[in-house]
Amino acid sequence: MNAINAVLNRKLVLNSFYILLSKEADTIKVGEVLGRSLKPGAIVALKGELGAGKTVLVKGIAKGLDVNGEPNSPTFVIMNAYEGRVPLYHFDFYRVSGVIELQGIGYEDYFYDDGVTVVEWADRVEGVFPESAIWIEIKIPGKRNTNSNVREINVEGEEKWLSLFRSMVELVLPI
Ligand SMILES: Nc1ncnc2c1ncn2[C@@H]1O[C@H](COP(=O)(O)OP(=O)(O)OP(=O)(O)O)[C@@H](O)[C@H]1O
Ligand SMILES: [Mg+2]
Repeated sequence: MNAINAVLNRKLVLNSFYILLSKEADTIKVGEVLGRSLKPGAIVALKGELGAGKTVLVKGIAKGLDVNGEPNSPTFVIMNAYEGRVPLYHFDFYRVSGVIELQGIGYEDYFYDDGVTVVEWADRVEGVFPESAIWIEIKIPGKRNTNSNVREINVEGEEKWLSLFRSMVELVLPI
């Protein structure tokens, strides 16, 4: 197979879905739907600037996984684990220097466990994510210094899962 075919084939199984959110409660709702749609073992890689809303999305995911309590930012500990219908492993790579540091904390034990793994600042150490990871980018549109509650979310994942997720989102948010 030549390189162009390889790219085209990848496009067949990978797809993306854009969502425009007007308030924090909507981000929580999308997170909750994510939590309900993810299978044990799923890995969600989050990208987005400081204050984009990654942790807010994780709070929604926790709700969707029936976690008791609310995740907050694990910036200083790299990972927090929560018990739910399925365990939630919440990583933050903001201060992670690279793969070696992650190997030191045994990240594979979590990534390849039957929990759901969600990683903030995933683009800092992209190389540790398997092909099957779901990538979500959150953007604050427009000028940075406006106090806007609008967010753009782009979700990239395997086509079959993505179309299920999309129909679930459409039930809770008028798009
Ligand atoms: N639509 C929205 N979705 C999510 N958060 C929003 C939205 N509108 C406003 N906000 C605000 O944006 C901030 C998002 O903070 P959050 O801690 O989730 O960001 P973060 O991406 O995790 O940042 P960091 O990189 O520092 O971890 C919160 O103060 C939240 O109230
Ligand atoms: Mg955060």
